Amino acid sequence: APDSEVWEGWLTGGDAFLAEINSSVGFDYRLALQDIEGSLAHARMLGENGVITPAEAEQLADGLLRIREEVNSGQFSFDPGLEDVHMNIEARLRELCGPLAGRLHTGRSRNDQVAVDARMWVRSAIDRLDALLAETVAVLAERAQAHHADVMPGFTHLQCAQPVTIGHHLLAYGEMFMRDRDRLHAARRRLDESPLGAAALAGTGYPIDPHDTARRLAFGGVMRNSLDAVSDRDFILDYLSAGATLAVHISRLGEELVLWSTAQFAFISLPEDLCAGSSIMPQKRNPDIPELMRAKSGRVFGSLMSLLTVMKGLPLAYSRDMQEDKEALFDAADTLDVSVRATTAMLRGITFHPQKTRSDAALGNTVATDVADWLVTERGLPFREAHSVVGGLVKWLAALGKELKDSSPAELAEFDQQLADLPPRVLTVENAVVRRRSPGGTAPSLVREAAAELLRRNTAF
Ligand code: ARG
Repeated sequence: APDSEVWEGWLTGGDAFLAEINSSVGFDYRLALQDIEGSLAHARMLGENGVITPAEAEQLADGLLRIREEVNSGQFSFDPGLEDVHMNIEARLRELCGPLAGRLHTGRSRNDQVAVDARMWVRSAIDRLDALLAETVAVLAERAQAHHADVMPGFTHLQCAQPVTIGHHLLAYGEMFMRDRDRLHAARRRLDESPLGAAALAGTGYPIDPHDTARRLAFGGVMRNSLDAVSDRDFILDYLSAGATLAVHISRLGEELVLWSTAQFAFISLPEDLCAGSSIMPQKRNPDIPELMRAKSGRVFGSLMSLLTVMKGLPLAYSRDMQEDKEALFDAADTLDVSVRATTAMLRGITFHPQKTRSDAALGNTVATDVADWLVTERGLPFREAHSVVGGLVKWLAALGKELKDSSPAELAEFDQQLADLPPRVLTVENAVVRRRSPGGTAPSLVREAAAELLRRNTAF
């Protein structure tokens, strides 16, 4: 056999399609650094436990460290003919260390090898995404602080409902993203066990020490069942499903930014440098980035669905189907990272227009609930009755071409004597937000506190 041949597989048919369906190095090269870490830990553990000599372990480690440099400097060349990243690295190790390279795979299989690589990859993907998301939350909290008293319309069914503050609206996303961070932390906690030692599926007869490799690779423990260790991919599903929920949140925010930046809403201006122009309409400033925040979610959902489908119905233990986990994982991770970065940049860059949001907040009789509440607290009406009075008033005013905000005390008294002494303040959007001080409510004083508290939780998390 030629020097570079690590192991003689059976898939030796010459047709190009065979390499195409069988070879994964075109994408799993992204596991190279994790693969080298895993092999370093395994080699050192073998040396310490007398499975190979300490000198042999050292030689293998030297070779692996050299390969790591080659990978880091972009000099390593991956050969699709060598199937996957694991075989590529082992073949290079054979070039560097000769037949000794063959001892590295003692007490190990590619099945536990790929599982540990993928776990480490997902672990750092989670850490990266979580750090990016913490920035998003920090920006939301800061902007909410600055706009804690600026009033904007609150909608239900996308119809005018009640006034809220811009800060309150932003903090709603802050809370969603904090739960996304929490889901990522939970996924990380669950994946924190090393599958090494499971070998192909049943464990191994060599006197290996999986706790030692787990420690070297910074895992909190060792997986308890070797069959589970090589056949489980739920750690990827956890990450993808946390990511899918995060993508839902980003898409909703993206949609609101699109809507708010229209001439009709004009709640915000988008940052000039994050807008796209039109090749035909000279006046255009299109919200391409928020639109992509909205759309990229589809790819993440697709990855989750794809891996669920791959895993569904697979018998234990390892099946080659599981090689199909990686493209879904990598694509989702890239998509999530860039989506969160874009989200943070947009949130930093947008300019709110509080005068416009304030005047729009008064449209559509949004203080109707406040008038009804006044009838309850000051005139002793049951809420249902007050609701009916104000419902009638709104219709009556509409016939005059008016809304509550345009009504005069004389008109209110004419409609219903009980409204004769309604203080004009009750018809203002400021009053509507200031009085909503129930926990989690939109009152500026609460929003200012909530923003500070979110910032603290975000930093401590
Ligand atoms: N490249 C494979 C994967 O990603 C790992 C190799 C295990 N292959 C095998 N035939 N047992 O799942």
